[in-house]
Amino acid sequence: MFETLAAPKEDAIIALMQAYAADPRPDKIDLGVGVYRDERGHTPVMAAVKAAEAQILQAQDSKSYLSLAGDAAFLNAMESLLLGGAVPSARVAAVGAPGGTAAVRQICELIRKARPEAVIWVSAQTWPNHLPLITAAGLQTRPYRYLAPEGGLDQAAMFADLEHVRAGDVVLLHGCCHNPTGVDLVAQDWAEIGALLSRRGAVPFIDMAYQGFGEGLDADAGGLRHLAARLPEVLVAASCSKNFGLYRERVGIAMAIVDATQRSNLAAVLAGLNRQNFAFPPDHGARVVSTILGDVALRHQWESELAEMRNRVQTNRRALAEALRDETGSDRFAGVGAEQGMFSLLPLSPEEVQRLRVEHGVYLLDDGRANMAGLSVRNSTACARAIASVTR
Ligand SMILES: Cc1ncc(COP(=O)(O)O)c(C=O)c1O
Repeated sequence: MFETLAAPKEDAIIALMQAYAADPRPDKIDLGVGVYRDERGHTPVMAAVKAAEAQILQAQDSKSYLSLAGDAAFLNAMESLLLGGAVPSARVAAVGAPGGTAAVRQICELIRKARPEAVIWVSAQTWPNHLPLITAAGLQTRPYRYLAPEGGLDQAAMFADLEHVRAGDVVLLHGCCHNPTGVDLVAQDWAEIGALLSRRGAVPFIDMAYQGFGEGLDADAGGLRHLAARLPEVLVAASCSKNFGLYRERVGIAMAIVDATQRSNLAAVLAGLNRQNFAFPPDHGARVVSTILGDVALRHQWESELAEMRNRVQTNRRALAEALRDETGSDRFAGVGAEQGMFSLLPLSPEEVQRLRVEHGVYLLDDGRANMAGLSVRNSTACARAIASVTR
């Protein structure tokens, strides 16, 4: 029965990770895989997470099933982290999911169930897994232009494309720290998007995978909160992989913000979708999150560790941008210093990216996506020198 199956194309990020691991050069630089790294290139367990895990180990006396939606304490804590009271809880239906990936998938399943003909509008540059996830859920996509050829947001093109959105369509937006460009919407853009979607009767779908990595926890959720407070329906998928460093524990939340009269129905539909796909969402990581957010001292510790990660990435950005200006004698890479979050899309051709890998041991994705957390004070000048040499 399986002879018709072809193996999927090798995942570009996994292939890059393997090539990096096999490279014997001691001064190689990994800007590929999208995880946070400290100055030593290590992805640490946060101290607040360790402390919460110790508490859970001590106190937990059962691993019996919880509800299909996941633990209520996690759902409530995440609602306030994401929405900050911008909408009444009576409008929020939410379920836990195994990571942001499954949260995106569950929201797509929800859309498909409600409106199979809906088109999902996706920014032309986006997380490589968005399109496969949406199409695997049986939905159609259309791109909207996002990045200007010279860098920065192409507002005119984005709004021109979004004018074609129809009633009942869904527009996928990155809540903050746009992956892969690092180019974020500002308050004015969110306001205009809100007005446009409201006028056209379309629904925003916010993917929030990096809250706290841009400007700060509240500022990064500003766009989401603006839309949630103004539009009748808003969909959200959020991940705790990056901001709690809980990657492999798989912690995410899928949320539908709707009219209060529909909330309990939507909550039941979302729980039913969990039932169909994996039944109960994983509990350990979610419990770590609710333990941290529910304890003043742990929360304080977590916020300061998160600020440290955010600041390190911003320092790396600025160091690379300055070194690139010095080494190339041009402003071609100036955007890197101002962009947000872990990623930037460096204006490099696939051939230049290939030469960086082969000649200099600098690893980034073929489209130029570079993880700024992979840099350090020690290697940003060497990295800039390598980039300058392949672009000369
Ligand atoms: C934009 C975006 N959405 C969702 C995710 C999903 O993250 P995870 O499934 O690891 O929680 C990621 C991870 O890289 C991402 O960049």
